[in-house]
Amino acid sequence: MTVTNEQKTALIQQAKTAYKRAYAPYSKFHVGAAALTKDQNIVSGCNVENASYGLTVCAERNCIAQAVINGEQQFQTLVIYTEQEKLTPPCGACRQVIVEFFEPEAIIMAVNHLAQSKSWKVNELLPSAFTPKDLI
Ligand code: THU
Repeated sequence: MTVTNEQKTALIQQAKTAYKRAYAPYSKFHVGAAALTKDQNIVSGCNVENASYGLTVCAERNCIAQAVINGEQQFQTLVIYTEQEKLTPPCGACRQVIVEFFEPEAIIMAVNHLAQSKSWKVNELLPSAFTPKDLI
């Protein structure tokens, strides 16, 4: 399934809106994410930190959880928005959660406020991943 330019623009816009809502008083590192579901809906999430630092949840995982709560478990693509000159890739924990719900060839794209972007395929982010198939 191809993602249109209009969908890409909407994903970046919604990831930016989520970025502005990030709760990151400790790291001050705001992250927004937006994902396009297989049903063509866009869901978003931001990072939510905690005084007990280890309880922090990243933008990507909150975004995916939002879709699951809405009844959607299959995704086409995901955008990560930050205002960093060095584009922000998903952390290791998020890569594992992305693998659970995205196809290996799906594109994950980091974008920033300078309209720069970098894309990876899911299977590049986490090669030889442990997946639901390994449980069978
Ligand atoms: N963070 C994300 O939200 N996504 C990532 O992929 C990288 C890290 C958040 C977690 C924490 O709130 C802050 O960025 C600094 O690590």
